Amino acid sequence: MTGMTSTSRPLLNRRLAEFGTTIFAEMSALALRTGSINLGQGFPDTDGPEEVREAAVRALRDGRGNQYPPGPGVPELRTAVAAHQERRYGLSYDPDTEVLVTAGATEAIAAALLALLEPGDEVIAFEPYYDSYAACIAMAGGTRVPVTLRPGEESRDAEAHRRFRLDLDELRAAVTDRTRLLLINTPHNPTGTVLTREELTAIAELAVERDLLVVTDEVYEHLVFDDAEHLPLATFPGMRERTVTIGSAGKTFSFTGWKVGWVTAPSALVTAVRSAKQFLTYVSSGPFQYAVAEALALPDGYFAAFREDMLAKRDLLAAGLTEAGFEVFRPAGTYFITTDIRPLGETDGFAFCRALPERAGVVAIPNAVFYDHREAGAPFVRFAFCKQTTVLEEAVRRLKTLA
Ligand SMILES: Cc1ncc(COP(=O)(O)O)c(C=O)c1O
Repeated sequence: MTGMTSTSRPLLNRRLAEFGTTIFAEMSALALRTGSINLGQGFPDTDGPEEVREAAVRALRDGRGNQYPPGPGVPELRTAVAAHQERRYGLSYDPDTEVLVTAGATEAIAAALLALLEPGDEVIAFEPYYDSYAACIAMAGGTRVPVTLRPGEESRDAEAHRRFRLDLDELRAAVTDRTRLLLINTPHNPTGTVLTREELTAIAELAVERDLLVVTDEVYEHLVFDDAEHLPLATFPGMRERTVTIGSAGKTFSFTGWKVGWVTAPSALVTAVRSAKQFLTYVSSGPFQYAVAEALALPDGYFAAFREDMLAKRDLLAAGLTEAGFEVFRPAGTYFITTDIRPLGETDGFAFCRALPERAGVVAIPNAVFYDHREAGAPFVRFAFCKQTTVLEEAVRRLKTLA
């Protein structure tokens, strides 16, 4: 099959035509073929807490969740999600009507956009953006309107470093009468930017003023470093009633394969999202839902230790990349580091990433794939640091050959 039928009509729906195959598949295959260290895709190479794994085993053995769980998710997990939002952020949600369990954050994003958009609605998202955003906006028939995050000077630390910033004037100018929704992501993949109180305040004021819905992807909420703080958008004035907040167990507990995510929002929004979700997976991850309920109730020490571990890994990889000659945008959140390859005399991230396995035995991802304005992302390359220390040390050793 060539992708065409005898009538020459493409097999793939035109909404998805631009989303052929992902760079991740190409790069992971390249990693395998060249024996490279894969810092491309963002999944941990060690599993999460033993007691959480045991909780899943217990649920399986006890016959909890082996059959279809309730559509909105098992009550234990909905209660745990609500308690987590209350304990962490003082946000109160009714577990029965304002929490929805999904097949990872990915399904939450898809269901929210399919539920809330009409064809022709505009969705503002920050580029570079997580790749499923563009595809889900397209599947919902919406139009994406990218607002580009750009490197700016920053001196929040004694040691000045650059971060990707939101241009608030550009954001305001992007809103039109057709804008339905702001799709926000903080902490931000791939740049590692954590939106500040000032930026979030401005976003909230704009949403209220223009009466916009907000979908906010906060899956890296527990991965914030240094003096950065994760501030849920729903805590800002006028936001709770218009905001769909998305979380995931994959990132926080290092069980990305379990695909347990959730939505918190006022009941009318949850009802809308559930209407779409019920025809995507209906339900998923039965026994894992019980285990994640226990994980969310872990003491603060777990979350602090997880953050400390990732912080040490960030510093290890950031130092190695700097020494190898990259400009490093030290991430305030997530487990990704975006770099600029121009100090290495390179300008094309695609070509650089395709050559890197042969040159240095390491795989990274060209940030351009996360942009509509590909030229704006051309010199940036992303490395994941959610890997074992020995793996990162070896990657750093190999990357030094570039310097
Ligand atoms: C910003 C962002 N949102 C959502 C997801 C997907 O989360 P899940 O695995 O829970 O579907 C990811 C995974 O990389 C991500 O980086």
